[in-house]
Amino acid sequence: MSEDAISLFDIDTLKNPYPAYRTLRDTQPVYFEEALNIHVVTRYDLVREGIRDTETYSSRYDQFLAGSQMVVFQQASPEVQQQLMAIADQMVETPPTMLTLDEPDHTKYRSLVNQLFTVSRIKSAEVAVQAIIDECIATMSPGPVEFMSVVGFPIPLRIIGDRLGIPLDRREFFDKAATQAASALRLTPLTGEALLDRTQTAVDLQRFLIDLVDARRANPEDDMITILANSKLEDEDRLLTHGECISVLNQFLVAGHETTSSAFGWGMLLLCQNPQLQDELRGDAKLIKTFVEEVLRLEAPVQGLPRLVTKDTVLGDYSLKAGDMIMLRYGAANRDERQFEAPDELDIHRKKAGAQLAFGAGVHFCIGAPLARQELNLGFASLLNAGRNFRLGETDSAPEAEASFILRNLPRLDIVYDAI
Ligand code: HEM
Repeated sequence: MSEDAISLFDIDTLKNPYPAYRTLRDTQPVYFEEALNIHVVTRYDLVREGIRDTETYSSRYDQFLAGSQMVVFQQASPEVQQQLMAIADQMVETPPTMLTLDEPDHTKYRSLVNQLFTVSRIKSAEVAVQAIIDECIATMSPGPVEFMSVVGFPIPLRIIGDRLGIPLDRREFFDKAATQAASALRLTPLTGEALLDRTQTAVDLQRFLIDLVDARRANPEDDMITILANSKLEDEDRLLTHGECISVLNQFLVAGHETTSSAFGWGMLLLCQNPQLQDELRGDAKLIKTFVEEVLRLEAPVQGLPRLVTKDTVLGDYSLKAGDMIMLRYGAANRDERQFEAPDELDIHRKKAGAQLAFGAGVHFCIGAPLARQELNLGFASLLNAGRNFRLGETDSAPEAEASFILRNLPRLDIVYDAI
């Protein structure tokens, strides 16, 4: 691939960015992507530098995300725009918390939310997580299966729904709303009707979450929303406002399920493409652990996230100015041969597979990583115990990633397998 030809926004490149990443790492490890007016960082050491130096590279990129949504908004007709504004007027304002904040404000929310993901909490939820996995896998039977609709999407969605404490009779609404919230990150054009539906659902979701927060304040239960609703910010000795609660919960909804679904899908595809691994992995929790890290390394569900440059600086030998946006491309860093030997290969014996950056690193390291790892480790162990000879189904088209710039997903995956 020639240097000049590269645009990460090209449809084929969105579906398979890895050849472009390789060229970029070698020739322009920081590269200006005109389509988004952003400088994309692809080399492992530089991505790490961008993550670590939080003074120079700020997480206050909420304006950038809002700007991207504005592009989608502007593509709608004037009538639809008017209706959208009327719906959006009902939105509760949500301040940034965690993902798009810097220290020290970031720390005050992060330390409150940390208690939801302690080792002991994750451990004690194991039985419940396993039960959901078993139920979903029980809906499959040997033969042809569309893996994403029976396992890949439902497992993480049901687990986050349970952990948050979403009442069972509102699950259908919750599933739709959470899926739509994540779809906003795709930055893809929508019909006016779909855009209106998504915006109305976002308003309904806010209302629903506020009611739930109030209900858990009045009658606490054993779930995440209860803890969030009733914990105080340490320094300010106060409960979170409704807006703050929604902001945190939105991050769980967006970050918390499509990412894990994505890893289920890519993991299953990699098992089908490397059939010799299936017997070796079956029953070996330690190898499955490395396998999961390799899946995350090879197919990072979050391919990249932005940072705002706060002062004139140099990254590698590339000059950046205060106000520039950069994008840390975790998906490219994870295949950097300067960091990982034979980076395009799945190696279930790889030493330091955990050095992959799919969960980011540093102060913003994914707070849900222990939960995601638990789901994936238990999930693949159970899948391998439920069947053998997982292989691709005979359909007209090969499995294809969705053309998305931030999330990397397989919308469908047709497989076939045999009874154990
Ligand atoms: C395989 C699954 C997942 C992947 C690949 C993933 C990826 C990431 C990445 C790359 C970041 C770092 C953001 C940055 O650099 O600015 C992050 C942060 C975050 N993730 Fe995840 N995530 C996953 C699962 C989850 C789950 C299950 C939850 C919650 C239920 C979650 C909640 C969050 C939150 C709240 C943050 C913000 C943390 C902060 O800024 O301090 N994620 N995630």
